[in-house]
Amino acid sequence: MNVLTTIAQLRQVVLDTKNQHQTIGLVPTMGYLHEGHLTLAQHAKRENDVAIMSIFVNPTQFGPNEDFESYPRDLARDTKLAASVGVDYIFAPAVEEMYPQDGGIRIRAGRQAELLCGASRPGHFDGVLQVVAKLFNLVQPDRAYFGQKDAQQVAIIQTMVRDYNFPIELRVVPVVREEDGLAKSSRNVYLNETERTQAPAIQQALQLAKCELQETQDVKKALALATKLIEDNTDGNIDYLSILSYPDLNEVTVDTEQIVLAAAVYLGKTRLIDNVIFSLKGEMAHV
Ligand code: PAF
Repeated sequence: MNVLTTIAQLRQVVLDTKNQHQTIGLVPTMGYLHEGHLTLAQHAKRENDVAIMSIFVNPTQFGPNEDFESYPRDLARDTKLAASVGVDYIFAPAVEEMYPQDGGIRIRAGRQAELLCGASRPGHFDGVLQVVAKLFNLVQPDRAYFGQKDAQQVAIIQTMVRDYNFPIELRVVPVVREEDGLAKSSRNVYLNETERTQAPAIQQALQLAKCELQETQDVKKALALATKLIEDNTDGNIDYLSILSYPDLNEVTVDTEQIVLAAAVYLGKTRLIDNVIFSLKGEMAHV
């Protein structure tokens, strides 16, 4: 497996691959790989001739007081892990390679970015779209792989692909979890022992809310139960706990086909997100 660090090297690989009429699967990541990323890479490898993984901690999606500097990085470890699942190339550019000029064109994420994570992380999804659009243009993948853990990110990228006509198939892979239900995340390494023990309560709360919705279709009650479970079982602060239609992220109505139950919770300084997506077609009587 080769590690490419410049756009020129990447373009050459893409050109050679296209000339051989081979398909490309792209797995965009910020590194510090865990099983979730490796699952995306396995899908990319299985469904394409060549799997390219980008590893780039993208500064434009971090707010001024967020963890850009301290975000975990270990390219040597990531390289071994990516090779173990058959990734053909890693693209790991420096910030200056990706953004040699300041203050250029920005893409603005639309209404879907105004709520959930977008409400507490202004500009975050603009930064995500900026780097993803660049990666799509550079790699020209046939398929790109994203984890459902970042459900809002997936929904917004789907909109960009639709609105900007990227000829790319988005493949969304289910959340990979620890045995106790905690969604795998590079940020889990920040959790201390107590926070780690409390963290599975987020998924338990979402499951409880899902059951309540399926039984009673009562959005308020479902949210109240989930809030209580998190408050009773963690010292965390809930950033949001929401029930919306998916992927458009509107209020749930009788016509809603797919629902996302999404949460962001601070355990200490670590902000964890998780979600459950399910269908209730015809069952949302009282909303
Ligand atoms: O999901 C992530 O890790 C990042 O937001 C992404 C898609 C790699 C863009 O930096």
